[in-house]
Amino acid sequence: MSQPTTMRRVAAISASAITALALVVPGAQADPPEPNLRSEAPRDLKIGSAVWGQRDLLGYDPKNPTEFQRILATEFNSLTPENDMKWAEIHPEPDVYDFSGADAVMAFAKANGQEVRGHTLLWHSQNPQWVTTASAGWTCDEARDVLEDHISTVVGRYAGEIYEWDVANEIFQDDWDAGGVRLRTGANPFLKACAEDPVALLSDAFKWAHEADPEAVLFLNDYNAEGINNKTDAYYALAQELLADGAPLHGFGAQGHLSLQYGFDESIQENFERFADLGLKVSVTEADVRMPLGEDGEPDAEQIALQAERYDKMLEACLNVASCTSYTVWGFDDARSWVPGVFPEGYATIMTEEYEKKPAYFALLESLTDATPGKSPRTPPGLNG
Ligand code: XIL
Repeated sequence: MSQPTTMRRVAAISASAITALALVVPGAQADPPEPNLRSEAPRDLKIGSAVWGQRDLLGYDPKNPTEFQRILATEFNSLTPENDMKWAEIHPEPDVYDFSGADAVMAFAKANGQEVRGHTLLWHSQNPQWVTTASAGWTCDEARDVLEDHISTVVGRYAGEIYEWDVANEIFQDDWDAGGVRLRTGANPFLKACAEDPVALLSDAFKWAHEADPEAVLFLNDYNAEGINNKTDAYYALAQELLADGAPLHGFGAQGHLSLQYGFDESIQENFERFADLGLKVSVTEADVRMPLGEDGEPDAEQIALQAERYDKMLEACLNVASCTSYTVWGFDDARSWVPGVFPEGYATIMTEEYEKKPAYFALLESLTDATPGKSPRTPPGLNG
């Protein structure tokens, strides 16, 4: 045996002796990292958070992250740009695209081994002024040209880097709106211009996105779309129509913006299953659970517990349906939550303003930890096969 081999062996023995020593000497080795949402996610389930790149990620330095950035990188393996890919931000003028916020999200994700859900390409809200103004005079052909250019440009720029895209967002009205559940041919400028055949426009929107990025999984996405109700019935019928038309529709997203003011619709798993049976992926895309707060601005113990239960029920539905690809919270800390700016409610996320983990966080962690690949152990025995 040659000298160098012997030396290598001695070196190997002493290295393992040091490792063994380190195991018995307290403090000789760093503690193993604590389990977190990302580390406990079963199968290939993505656990995501929304993040506003323009506000929170510009100038990110991986060697010197803010506390917010450190948690975002540690707890999640998926990011959704909260605003950066919306029309108003990414396409502020007819011939001007501004990718700065979106690029910041992509770069952060890349640096931290995370994937990105794109949001969103066709919506009635957060459109730039020029769209609102110009759309008043659009023919359907003109609207189609503008939408196709936008979709090809934005989806094309990030082709191969975005695993799911919310192609069409909130395209149905609510039950309680005048006219009931029907496509938003009033408020959505593109659907309005093509009101004679809005389904043809939707079908093409999916085709344009698919052409620009054949790998991306393409979603319909909406709120009040968790359980089986009139709105999700309309989505179910639309999905069938789009699929029959050959549209590359691949997924259905329930946003999951809940409020403790209302009850929880227990049919979420059944709803996910019916879309999965159409061959679609399903996702919880924007989970948060808000609540009216007392005069001191604080929730009571019962609300805190109920919030944890609701977050968890949405996750359980996802864990129990093998086609569920992602569970995303719409921001993880109350300081950045969109809720207080829009509703007279708060305490909607899984961490306080000081990043203290709420019972909702621990409920999610526990369910992820308990889950076995593809199935949750809470699935009744017999269904586990
Ligand atoms: C919200 C953002 O969180 C806010 O910052 C913004 O001011 C308004 O939009 N449904 C959606 C999301 O699909 O894009 C919305 O995000 C929340 C409701």
